[in-house]
Amino acid sequence: MAVVILYGSEAGNAEAVAEHLVNVLSGQDVSLYDMMEFDPADLEADNFHIVVCSTYGDGELPTGASPFFDLLEEDEPDLSGVRFALFGMGDSVYETFNRGGEIMADKLISLGAEQVGEHARHDDSGSVKAKDQAEEWAKKIAAEFLS
Ligand SMILES: Cc1cc2nc3c(=O)[nH]c(=O)nc-3n(C[C@H](O)[C@H](O)[C@H](O)COP(=O)(O)O)c2cc1C
Repeated sequence: MAVVILYGSEAGNAEAVAEHLVNVLSGQDVSLYDMMEFDPADLEADNFHIVVCSTYGDGELPTGASPFFDLLEEDEPDLSGVRFALFGMGDSVYETFNRGGEIMADKLISLGAEQVGEHARHDDSGSVKAKDQAEEWAKKIAAEFLS
């Protein structure tokens, strides 16, 4: 099964995490896309999707995730059979901690996709580096869903 990693980023943190996950999952058939350049029509049930999404503004999606989200909203593709795992990124100084990843997951689920594994929420104010948390998370996802 091919693994498609999608990232939605504002200032590059989610992009860096997504790039790191390409290395972590190098034993798999992995491809990496900026959500800005990914058409929701290309979400396929045959692939496994890893979505890395940060939070900006006041609990909003990052700029990089907005066109993808808008297309999901406008086109309402049937995502039945599409599976994804989500790694959210945010900062607990905000009341809207990690809302961006939640907005994205809710939208995908509302269109029929299935979220699997732990919904990860990285905290910029915490002591764990995003790449380290993501690596540990992705290894568990791989063991459970990609082996
Ligand atoms: C202007 C600004 C607004 C932010 N708003 C939120 C927020 O509402 N909730 C949250 O959990 N994190 C928020 N964050 C934290 C970012 O989501 C976090 O730093 C993340 O790692 C950024 O990833 P990115 O560079 O890929 O966008 C904000 C950061 C900035 C600079």
